[in-house]
Amino acid sequence: MKTVIVIPTYNERENIQKLIPAVEDVLTEVPEKHEVSILVVDGNSPDGTGEVVEQFSEEYPNVHLLLENEKNGLGAAYVYGFKYAMNEMDADVIIEMDADFQHDPADLPRFIKAIEEGADYVIGSRFVKGGSIPKDWAFYRKFLSWGGSLFSKVVLGIFSVNDFTTGYKASRVKGFVDKMDLDAILSQGFAYKIDLLHRMHRLGSKIKEIPIDFALREEGDSKMEGNNMLDSLRVVLTLRLRELQRFLKFIVVGFIGLFTDLGLFNLLILLTTLPEKYSSGASGFIAMNVTFLLNNFWSFGDSKVTKVSNILKKVPLYYLISYAPIIFRSWLINFSLQNIADNWLVANLAFFMGITIGLIWNFTFYSKIIWQKND
Ligand code: GDD
Ligand code: MN
Repeated sequence: MKTVIVIPTYNERENIQKLIPAVEDVLTEVPEKHEVSILVVDGNSPDGTGEVVEQFSEEYPNVHLLLENEKNGLGAAYVYGFKYAMNEMDADVIIEMDADFQHDPADLPRFIKAIEEGADYVIGSRFVKGGSIPKDWAFYRKFLSWGGSLFSKVVLGIFSVNDFTTGYKASRVKGFVDKMDLDAILSQGFAYKIDLLHRMHRLGSKIKEIPIDFALREEGDSKMEGNNMLDSLRVVLTLRLRELQRFLKFIVVGFIGLFTDLGLFNLLILLTTLPEKYSSGASGFIAMNVTFLLNNFWSFGDSKVTKVSNILKKVPLYYLISYAPIIFRSWLINFSLQNIADNWLVANLAFFMGITIGLIWNFTFYSKIIWQKND
């Protein structure tokens, strides 16, 4: 397994000088079968961080330097590093790590081990049992850090994660990072972390949080932009609104499907001699295909399937998914009429409940199986 530790730097001369040997030292504990490299992405630091790394790369063959033209923000640096790690270094796993010793190199083997044991996304978390943020931090900083994660959790609906902004992580490439359009990441700054996490989650990655102690910075200063709070807020809300938009379009398509079904059914019984049950079967079938196309090219248009061979693979799956709640609904109505009361109100309540559950069911499985988001 090839692992690349991507370390972005901007004016971290003192830190990187100590960090590279420290990481190399830890790597001697990692089992031989893992090929681990260090990729420093330097924002053309005026303090000569790049030159230091270059010297190390002569001493250690697994140390690489990627030089940006200028400091473009943390997100931009990581996107550059991720692409290089995948395309030029053939990475199976990418680790994100800071250069300033706030991330303890001694934790590295735990990240690698967790991936080896099957996790796709390992999050070094400060907000789980055993993890911590510096005790010396001012109360407001602790509160912001913790509150920001709670906010993201609730708004994005990702309840399995407790630390949304941590910078210490490992991601599996195959099936996850290689499925992303990294150029479409929502922020060039620190807030890219939230988008990346959201994508990993939506791609269905197996997420594992491991506790980390986030230390105080040893040398130099934080590079976090002053607008980071607002930028993060923008990213969280954009991600949520985008999905809400999909959902609203999906509801509209549902209505169009309903009216197509109803309209065709009536046309068929009025204009042809087809018996009702066949008319209803035919109208239902046509409506289902109409909704497939509308969903494909509109509601879920950002992850649409265009190759005919792929469409033909997705359509039967779509029938299968869409049919399940219809069967469930019939069962629910029947069950309610028999066990609650046999009247019009109960029938309609059960029908309504069935439709609501069906909506959630369809939307969930369409998003997860048919139109998996990959932008
Ligand atoms: N190339 C490049 N370009 N590197 C950068 C840039 C940039 O624009 N901005 C920051 N870095 C590097 C720093 O040199 C450091 O190695 C690492 O990215 C993290 O930057 P810090 O400035 O140390 O960030 P922080 O300590 O304020 O924030 C850390 O904790 C946050 C959560 O509290 C980071 O881990 C964040 O990702 C995390 O959200
Ligand atoms: Mn830091």
